[in-house]
This record gives sequence, structure tokens and C-alpha cells, in this order.
Amino acid sequence: MSSPHQHPLSGPTADAPLIRAYRGERPDRLPVWFMRQAGRSLPEYRALRTGTRMLDACLDPELVTEITLQPVRRHGVDAAIFFSDIVVPLRLAGVGVDIVPGRGPVLEHPVRTADDVAKLRERTLTPEALSPITAAVRQLTTELGSTPLIGFAGAPFTLAAYLVEGGPSKDHLAARTMMHAQPQVWAELMDWLAEITGTFLHAQVSAGASAAQLFDSWAGTLSLADYAQYVAPYSTAALAPVRALEVADRPVPTVHFGVGTAHLLPAMHAVGVDVVGVDWRTPLDQAAQALPGVVLQGNLDPAMLAADWPALRAHAETVLAAGAAAPAHVVNLGHGVPPDTDPEMLTRLTAWLHEQ
Ligand code: CP3
Repeated sequence: MSSPHQHPLSGPTADAPLIRAYRGERPDRLPVWFMRQAGRSLPEYRALRTGTRMLDACLDPELVTEITLQPVRRHGVDAAIFFSDIVVPLRLAGVGVDIVPGRGPVLEHPVRTADDVAKLRERTLTPEALSPITAAVRQLTTELGSTPLIGFAGAPFTLAAYLVEGGPSKDHLAARTMMHAQPQVWAELMDWLAEITGTFLHAQVSAGASAAQLFDSWAGTLSLADYAQYVAPYSTAALAPVRALEVADRPVPTVHFGVGTAHLLPAMHAVGVDVVGVDWRTPLDQAAQALPGVVLQGNLDPAMLAADWPALRAHAETVLAAGAAAPAHVVNLGHGVPPDTDPEMLTRLTAWLHEQ
């Protein structure tokens, strides 16, 4: 590695339970982290975010460091997930995008025509633009010590779902139309998205993230045939820069996650990742049958966080038993922490999982 400081994977995080599990071992302690563990379920997050827009917070290394560390300190989870958002690389490339509270990412101009895509393709993600990201990752990994930081990016399709629609949508119809109605425009859009996604992920990992997760949250709305033809090649391309990195002669673990993806699991693994994240709908023993020999992450139902403790514990027992079918299991939710979750439940669940 060319980075001036030692990469955590070549020392402090090399034997962390999360990294050992991502590499297919069963460490003594069952590793757990929660998607969206940093964020609105924590009062200390809400206090820090007062008066700062989401995307401005994501570009402030001090705030990013503090917000990323909050759930690690509070819950004792086995990983930090970089506090950012899937639209951050778009903003850093100069695309007009904002995150509207209660709604999600909204674009100034939807990307619909060949001309829109050609204009987008003039933009690049430069190392200078990425400097708040790399500064935050360096600061964070110093403070995290032996706890791994997971870097992440949105996959090209999930980003395209926002860009083409212009904002959040239920079925991502505009993007699904474009891939068939304007296949060449689609290919050029996805090619550009793969490039900026790959650059964003690579920047986080080279600065010190110990693993990388690609979120293709909305891939589940696609048929397998459309996924394989119009989406998977670009996810492979987005992962390529991180897959080309080696730290201490070993690849950096990669994870791929989407919602409603039971029919896509083998294809999502085949893009070239070590670990597949499973939502709450597919029991892990079924996922393990579809993905023999593959490490799984998941898949507690986020709804169960609002149930009482005995019900949550019984649900966790079921998930762990099914997860035994995989070579290794990293416990997580099947999607993000709901904003109204009582943080005590996450702390208690983490402690219980560590006793198993
Ligand atoms: O703790 C973590 O998981 C790290 C941070 C993280 C955020 N977004 C912070 C965030 C991660 C990994 C994401 C990824 C992300 N963002 C995805 C993929 C994962 C998934 O949930 O499927 C998607 C689809 C987005 C797009 C996005 N950003 C949405 C739909 C929203 C919610 C809008 C709302 O207000 O309901 C956001 C905003 C966002 N990203 C918040 C956080 C903490 C809330 C913003 C706030 O606190 O005001």
C-alpha cells in the first residue's frame, strides 16, 4: 500500500472478530454491527446534527468522526460504519443533490436523456474533492484502534434509481424503463456511476477502512435477467478498484447487500464479493443453500427492535440457529435501524450476542 501510515489490516484490525468472520472463520466472539447504527436512533446524534444539513455533516471530518464513533462507544459493536451517504460521491463530483429530511435524496435535475448523461460524464471525482473523506477515515481509524471501520458506497443501480427518477420512488420505474428504452444511455450512465463509486470506495479503503460494503438497496425490484444484463457488470466494475488492493498480501473483505433479493443472491455474490448481506425475508439457512460456502451477514428483522426483550431474544436465537448453516455469520439487521428504535435494545442485544 502506498499510504504513509500503516493500514489497520496490516496490524490492529487483522484479527478482529469481524475481519476473521468476513474471511470465513468462526471467531470466539460472534461479530455484530447494525446498518444505520449511526443516526437518528441516538439522542447524541440528534444533538450533534442540530442546525447542520445531512450532506454538510458528511463533509465535516470532525463531525463524521464523532458520529461514526457514537454507536461503537454506546453499544460495543464489532465495527464502525463510515458516516456518509450513498449520494456523497455525486455531491463531490458536483451534481446538484440534497437530502431532504423525511424524504431522502433529491436531485436538482433528473437524468433522463442522452444529453443529461453526456453532461454528467464530464464530471469526475478528484482526489482533492475526496479530501474530507480521506481525512475523516484517517482520523477515525486512529481513534478506532482494533475496531474495524467499514467503508461503503451505493451501487450504480441504486444511485441510478435516484438520478433517473430525480428523488426517492417506490418501484424505481424510470430507471427500469431507461435500461430497456435507451440501453445505450443506460450503459453510459451506469459506466460513469461505476467509476465514481469505485473511486469513492477505493479512497476509503486506502485511507484505512478494513472492509467495504456495496449497498444495492433497491436491486430487489429487478428481475434476475435485468439484474444480470443491466446491473451486475457495473457493480463488478465498481468493486474492481478495491478488489485490486491487497494489504499484508491479502484481499480486503467486501460485502454486497440489497433488500428483497432472495431471487438475486447468487448473482449478487457472483459480482465478486466475499460476503452477502441478507434482508429479513430470507432465512439464513435458505440463503446458505443458495450460496454454498459463502459468509452471510444479517438478518434480524428491524421490526423486532420494537418488540419486548423476550421476543427479540427469541427472534435472535432463530436467526443464529439458521446462520449456523453458513461458514461464518456476521450478525446485523436485514435493513437499517428504524429511527424510533430505543437504543437500549441495541445495547442489550449486542451484549447478549457477545455472550453466545
Ligand atoms: O450507520 C450507518 O449505516 C452509516 C451511515 C449511512 C447513512 N446512509 C446515513 C444516513 C449509510 C450506510 C447510508 C446508506 C444509504 N443512504 C442507503 C443504503 C442503505 C439503505 O438504507 O438501504 C440509501 C438508500 C441512502 C439514501 C438515503 N439517505 C435515504 C433513503 C435517507 C433517509 C431520508 C429520511 O430522512 O428518512 C438518507 C438520509 C440519511 N442517511 C440519514 C442518515 C443517518 C438520515 C438523515 C438525518 O439524520 O437527517
